[in-house]
Amino acid sequence: MKKTASTNTYPLVPMSSPDLTKTEQEVVQAVLETTYLSMGPETTGFEETIRNYTGSRHAIAVNSGTAGLHLCVRAANIKDGDLAITSPFSFVASANVLLFERAVPIFVDVDPLTGNIDPLLVQQAAKDLTAGGATAQKWLPRSGVTKGAKLRALLPVDVFGQPAEMDSIRKTAQEFDLAVIEDSCEALGAEYKGHHAGTLGDFGVFAFYPNKQITTGEGAIIVTDDDEAADFMRALRNQGRSPGDTWLQHTHLGYNYRIDEMSAALGRVQMGRIDEILNKREQVAMWYAERLTEIHGIETPQILASTTRMSWFVYVIRFAPEINRDQAAKMLKERGIPNRPYFIPIHLQPYMVERFGFQEGDFPITEDLGRRGLAIPFSGVMTEDQVEIVCRSIRDVINTIQ
Ligand SMILES: Cc1ncc(COP(=O)(O)O)c(C=O)c1O
Repeated sequence: MKKTASTNTYPLVPMSSPDLTKTEQEVVQAVLETTYLSMGPETTGFEETIRNYTGSRHAIAVNSGTAGLHLCVRAANIKDGDLAITSPFSFVASANVLLFERAVPIFVDVDPLTGNIDPLLVQQAAKDLTAGGATAQKWLPRSGVTKGAKLRALLPVDVFGQPAEMDSIRKTAQEFDLAVIEDSCEALGAEYKGHHAGTLGDFGVFAFYPNKQITTGEGAIIVTDDDEAADFMRALRNQGRSPGDTWLQHTHLGYNYRIDEMSAALGRVQMGRIDEILNKREQVAMWYAERLTEIHGIETPQILASTTRMSWFVYVIRFAPEINRDQAAKMLKERGIPNRPYFIPIHLQPYMVERFGFQEGDFPITEDLGRRGLAIPFSGVMTEDQVEIVCRSIRDVINTIQ
């Protein structure tokens, strides 16, 4: 059935699209002609490309960003009742992986420009929580915390492909002897002061869902320089089998977090043109910025000087407070422009409220960004014409509302 934008269902421009070539289709096909569909040469090859790219000693491929972060939490020895400082302005998985181990996310608010965790709040929270007593209390959620719980880790997120303030975060970690898990699921290729995002803490994770910079379908890679932790995470991803264990021997409580060979092959070949992929995404972001900065009532993403390379993941605009974002979002959809509020704050998700007693007003900057932010169609294969169509609709919607 032929549909037009005015029927309100057919997107004129897709929300995101993977950037895939014929070669990438062929390597996946080639894997299907071998006997290795899991744990074969494509997985080790993909890991090698990421090691070479980031300079990390180890790269461990897994089947999702969530799985990767969970393994980091295990490797950092974060346990029942432990505390870890993280961001409420993120995709839920960055906090969920703490809950998987019955640890408690200590949320601190974010920088209003970037949406990344505020490093001064991280420092203050770490100081107060380490000191304990009454000063610690104000950082704790209303419920769900064990008395005497210890702060173990920092879990910053490189939001939308922009690195968190890692110098300060690392300094805090050193001062208070905390592990750093850098959630770089949205930031493959980003650089902070010339260093790869993901390599700035003890552990980093890049994710490859189809809307990410490169894709493996489902998949992710953990990077670390820690030999012992790397061995442990390799064992955990493979049902807890340590080197020397047979197929039915399991030294540890593990998981099936293995990536398959088709996914790994796709990732390996996508990495061969990572710069091309990132540059195409940057070009699309620039087309957007050129057009959107002139629209009154729209804020475009801000890039800090410390971000020596932005790795565009999504394109999130913010509406001025007097514009009703949800109304604008609905009107854009009616014009055939898909969009998503980005993010709904983690602390206000129903299961978080139920367990920890969070309330609206707990993290005002996060909530403000959550109310005003909207991800618009974005990918490296978008054309300038498609960008123009989206921007024309945004202009039209703003003029109608105002
Ligand atoms: C910041 C962040 N962390 C973690 C994840 C989880 O990755 P996955 O969906 O591969 O489990 C994502 C994915 O969107 C993410 O954006």
